Formats: sequence, C-alpha cells, structure tokens
Amino acid sequence: MTVSRDQRMPEGTPGETAHSDELAAYDAFRQAWPDYQQTARLDAFRASDFERLDALGHSYLDYTGASLYATSHIKRHTSLLLQQVLGNPHSGSPASATATALVEETRREILRYFHASSADYTAVFTQNATAALKLVGEAYPFTPQGRLLLTFDNHNSVNGIREFAFRSKARVEYAPLTVPELRLDQLRLDELLDRANPNARNLFVYPAQSNFSGVRHPLTLVDRARARGWDVLVDAAAFVPTNRLDVDRIHPDFVAVSFYKMFGYPTGVGCLIARREALAALDRPWFSGGTVNFASVQGAAHILAPHEAGFEDGTLNYLSIPAVALGLQQLETLGIDVIKTRVRCLTAWLLERLLEIRHTNGRPIVRLYGPATTVERGGAIALNFYDPEGRLLDYRRVEELAATERISLRTGCFCNPGAGETAEGLTEDDMLAGVSAGANITLPRFLQVIQHRSGKSAGAIRVSFGLASNFGDAYRFFRFAAGLRDQTRLTLGDITFDIESCRVIRDGS
Ligand SMILES: Cc1ncc(COP(=O)(O)O)c(C=O)c1O
Repeated sequence: MTVSRDQRMPEGTPGETAHSDELAAYDAFRQAWPDYQQTARLDAFRASDFERLDALGHSYLDYTGASLYATSHIKRHTSLLLQQVLGNPHSGSPASATATALVEETRREILRYFHASSADYTAVFTQNATAALKLVGEAYPFTPQGRLLLTFDNHNSVNGIREFAFRSKARVEYAPLTVPELRLDQLRLDELLDRANPNARNLFVYPAQSNFSGVRHPLTLVDRARARGWDVLVDAAAFVPTNRLDVDRIHPDFVAVSFYKMFGYPTGVGCLIARREALAALDRPWFSGGTVNFASVQGAAHILAPHEAGFEDGTLNYLSIPAVALGLQQLETLGIDVIKTRVRCLTAWLLERLLEIRHTNGRPIVRLYGPATTVERGGAIALNFYDPEGRLLDYRRVEELAATERISLRTGCFCNPGAGETAEGLTEDDMLAGVSAGANITLPRFLQVIQHRSGKSAGAIRVSFGLASNFGDAYRFFRFAAGLRDQTRLTLGDITFDIESCRVIRDGS
C-alpha cells in the first residue's frame, strides 16, 4: 500500500532529508507492524475529521489527557440541537419530553455499548469520571470494621476516596506495584484481598488502565476481589478510549468514565455504570433537586428517588448528553479494536525507537517508566530525559521546547502520585520531606526538595496515542527526542513558566 505524504506526515515537517528519513522509517514501521495496515480507515477519518491537525502542523500526543473531537461529531450534534426544541427535563412539556427522551436513549446506548444488561446495571450521568468516583466514595457505607483497598497506581480522584473512609474510621490500605514494569504485585495484592472483613463493607478501587504508565491491570481482579468479599469500583477512564469494557463479562459493582476521554466531545459529561444492587446499598449523604420523590420542610423528611435518579443532582447536562450517543456511534463505526490496533503499533514502534537513542558517549537519553513492550499495556508512555552524564533534564523545559515544535504532550505527575513515587523510587521519607515544608508546598518547590535530597525526579513526561494518531505524530516525537542527544541542562536553557496546583502559570497570565 502506498501512503501519501498527507497520511503520514503533518504539514510543517521541515526539510527534505527529514522527509526521506521519515519515509524510510514509515516503510520499516509497516514491515515490522503489518497490523497497522488494517487500520487504514483511521487515516481517512483523520483526513476528513481532523484536518486542523495537519493544517496547524500539530502533533497531538495527549490522548490520555483528552481525546480529540471529530468535525463530523460536532456537526451532527449541532444539527440535532438546531432541529429540536429542548427544555429542562424535569417536567411534562413537549420540550421537556424531547430532552428526556434523548437523555434516556443515551443512557440505553451507554449500557448497550458497554454490554451492561439493563436488568442488572444502570448508568448514572455525572459531570466526569471524578464525580462518578466521588458519588460512590461519599455514599459508601464505610465503618470502622470495614476496609478501603486502593492500588498505588490510581488517579487522585480515586485516592481522594480515602478521605471518606478515614472519616468513618475504616481501614485504608494500598497495594504496591512492581518495578520497573509498574504492574500490581499480585502476591501482595492477594494478601490484602484476603483481609476483607466478612461482617462489614469493603471497597476495592483500581484502574483498568494506568493513566501514568499505560499498564493494563487485569480485569479478572474484579471477580477475584468480589469472591473474597469486596465491592469493586473500576476506574475505566484511561481504558475505554482504546478498549471495549464488557460489563456483563467482568461483573464490576461500579465503573467510572469520562466521555471526552473517549471521543473528545462533549466535555462535562461522564457516568457511573452501577450494578443496581450495589447502587441501592449506597447511602447518599444529601438530597437535591432532581433526586427526591418527596421532600418536606416542616416534616424534615425526604424520600430519595430510586435507581439512577437518586444520584443525579440537579439538572442534567441535557444538551450535551445526546452528543455522547453520537460519540459512541462514531466509535462503533470506526471499531474500537481498530483504534486499539493502531495505538498498539504506534506505541510499540515509539517504545523501541526511544530506547535505542543514545548520547555520543553511549549513554541512553530516555528512562522509561513502565513496560517496554506492548504486552498488557495501552498507548501511554511515561519517561524522562537524561543528559550524557546521567543528570535529569527538567521535564518542564522539555515540554516548553516540544511546544515550540507544536507537539502537545503532558508533564508532571498526571494526578497519579503513587505510580510516580514507585517509578522514581521515592521513599516515604522523601515524601515526608516534601510534606514537612507545610501548606505552602508547590510542585516547583517539591521538585527542588526531591532533587536536592536524592537527585530523583518528582514527575515525568507522558506521550499518548488515540483515535486520530498517525505515524507522523510518533515520528515527530521520536525526532524531537533524538534532538536532545548530547544536550545538558545548560544547553537547553531555563523554563519560562511555573506550575502550581496542576495549573500552568505563565508570565502575565
Ligand atoms: C485513570 C483516570 N481516572 C480518573 C480521571 C479523572 O477524569 P476526569 O478529570 O475527567 O474526572 C482521569 C483523568 O485523567 C484518569 O486518567
């Protein structure tokens, strides 16, 4: 198959030498990863729906942060909005009834897409995955006899559930990861799973795919944990953009997702897929508009609505929710397995190439966090760059330099401190040194403390692939990384921005 320049190279790729190097690299890539040819429909999709990427010469490599929205998705949603009269779903008017019908159709589509039988499961609309996780955390019947088991590899939106457990004096434990692959330590996990208290409620929460290392943790854990007395909440936010989650097959109690991570649009809508029985066992800490069948001021009483309605606070995002059904249809048309194959091939190629790059003195440039192959891992690659003497290059400066080449990547700890701490070998003492700096600790100060103590990093660079990625994106990052050969902190220059509380602060902003 011959592939045109447009399909493989973003516009703005400099120089004919780079061009022919890239063509040669692309040919070698296709020979090494012949499955990639089965994903050609994604090249057509990119050409029709993501023209802006090539028009702007943009290599987008943060699909774990957010997927990108397709032009046709936005058009279909806009046309739906322009053709309908949609009102607040909480009443019986025609405008309300139309909105309700679209919301309920989308709920059914979600259950269908995730193979969740509506007899056993329902979908609760939330603002995002975080809100879905919080819904469970705040309402879970933790008791001093009960337990919360988390994995080191978890997003902070899962780590935060421990605060609810602490308040109820439940026991909180963490299952560690192995190094360097950052997979769950199965022996230790089994020991911890054996500690469920049969006379209390026990909650186990883990990610189906790591947003730090890309590791896919086994879905068979759900059955293993449930058989030992745990309720299981699967954080599927980073998994579902490139994998099908078959709910009826894995039987989780709860699953949290954000839809913009799957197809870029709409933001502000996620869901909690919940086993009906497990949802009924939750104890909501409050009620609100939309969640009650009855509430009285003088009677000081309320009756929570049954099923998902008791968990959907206030007015749903009824204008955006229909766009979720359109996004799921888009994934069905493209084929989630096709996306998965493409992401696997690009990830495999980039992993191999990055690990080959050496400084002139023979030392590696890249340190990878997580598996070096695509076995049981998705398309997120976490790494740091080092100079010829083995000194860490500041990932914030790397991000800045990548930006000048219109490469969008992600740096920091990706809201997953436990995976980062394990990856860098940060100890409890290292972390306590940071925490002891008090309430004024910020990420830059913490980086200084850690580097001063141990020369370690407290963050990394992440590149990730998704539904609109192509070889040109992977190649441009590889070339950028190779350009760091023989560079030092001095030659790279200083960063010109700061990051506080996960927000980038630039001069004047
Ligand atoms: C694994 C994982 N869980 C949870 C979240 C939180 O998602 P959101 O910010 O959409 O609530 C993310 C976001 O990056 C994630 O990657």
